Amino acid sequence: MYILGVETSCDDTGVSVLRASSESAPEVLSEVTSSQDNVHREYGGVVPELAAREHLHNLPILLNEVLEQSGLWLGDLSWIGVTAGPGLKGSLLTGFHFAQGLSVGSGVPMLGVNHIEGHIFSPFIGQQYTSIDFPFLAFVVSGGHTEIIIVEGLGHYQLWARTIDDAAGEAFDKSAHLLGFSYPGGAALAQEADEYGKLPFNQQKEPIELPRTMIRKKAFSFSGMKTAIALKIREQQQNGGIVGNNRAHLSYSIQAAIVRELVMKISEAMVDTGIRRIALSGGVAANRLLRSELELICDHLYLPASCHCTDNATMIAYLTGYHAYRRRPGVNEVFVRQPVEEFFPCDQ
Ligand code: KG4
Ligand code: ZN
Repeated sequence: MYILGVETSCDDTGVSVLRASSESAPEVLSEVTSSQDNVHREYGGVVPELAAREHLHNLPILLNEVLEQSGLWLGDLSWIGVTAGPGLKGSLLTGFHFAQGLSVGSGVPMLGVNHIEGHIFSPFIGQQYTSIDFPFLAFVVSGGHTEIIIVEGLGHYQLWARTIDDAAGEAFDKSAHLLGFSYPGGAALAQEADEYGKLPFNQQKEPIELPRTMIRKKAFSFSGMKTAIALKIREQQQNGGIVGNNRAHLSYSIQAAIVRELVMKISEAMVDTGIRRIALSGGVAANRLLRSELELICDHLYLPASCHCTDNATMIAYLTGYHAYRRRPGVNEVFVRQPVEEFFPCDQ
C-alpha cells in the first residue's frame, strides 16, 4: 500500500510518500520538508498566522513534487495520514483541511494522527512494524516538547515526565538568540560548542556552572536555567564584552548544562521503570553530545535519521501505516474523523 503523509503542526511543511507491505519494511518513496526559517527569522520566533499562510502556499506544490517523484497519482494511495495535533491551530487546520479535501475528492481514506506519536516512532522509520521491540522509553526532545514516555506498544503510552515550562530546544534557541546566532540558532550554538570541545585541553576553560532544577522530580524545567544563562551573558557583556573564544565557551557551557539535565532525567526514568532502551526523537535528537552521552548509559539507543529529527511528514506516513497495519478500531472507515485539538497519546 502507498501512504501519503502530511505534516503542518508548526512551521515546517512536510509531505511524504511511503510504500508499506506485510512482506517488506516500509520504504520512503519520496519526502520533502520545506522550512519556513527565512519567513520567521526577522521576528525571532514563529508567527502563527504567517506559518499557516506558508503551509497553504506550500502544500499543493509539495504534493505535486512527491507524487511526481514517486510516480503515483492520488488514486494509487491507500491512506492519507495527517497530523491532527498538538501544534499551532492555524497550521494544523491548514494541513488537516488540505488532507481532508484530498480524501473527499479521491475517496482515499484519511487518518488524523498525533504529532508526538509520530516523533515517538520516527527512529524506526524504514523498519518493519513487527520488528519494533517493546517496551522502550521514548525521549521526545524538540523546540516544543521535552517528554519521556513509557511505550508498551502502539497506542499504549504512559507519560513519565514532561517540561513544566520551556522545551529543551527553546532553551537552546533562546540562548542562541542572546549570543547573537541567527534564528533558530540551536543547531548553530551546538556546532560552536562542539568546536570548542575539540580544542586542546590547555586552550579550554572549565564550563560555567549553571543551576540544576527539578532535582528528583518527574518533570523538566528550563526557565531557571534560561535566566541564569541570560545573567551570565550580561555579566560577560559588562566585563569587556563577548570577545575571542568567550561565545564558544558560553555555548559549550550552555550545551553541557542542557544535555546534563536531559541525561540526568532519562537516567532517573531508566532506574524508575527498569526499561533501558531509549528511542530519541525531535529536533534536539540531532545533538551530538546528547547522542553520545545517551549511548553510554542505556542498553540500546534508537536514533532517527537527521532528516527525521525535526518535524517531517515521513514520520506521519510511517505511523499511519502502523495504525493501518494494526487495524485500529475505526481505521477501516472510508473517512476517519478526528478532532483537531491539543491531544496527547497518553490522554487518550
Ligand atoms: O522537532 P522540531 O522541528 O520542533 C518541534 O516540533 O518543536 O525541533 C526544532 C528544535 C529547535 O529548537 C532547534 O534549535 C533544535 O530542534 N535543534 C537542535 C539541534 N538541531 C536542531 N538543538 C540542539 N542541537 C542541535 N544539533
Ligand atoms: Zn515536532
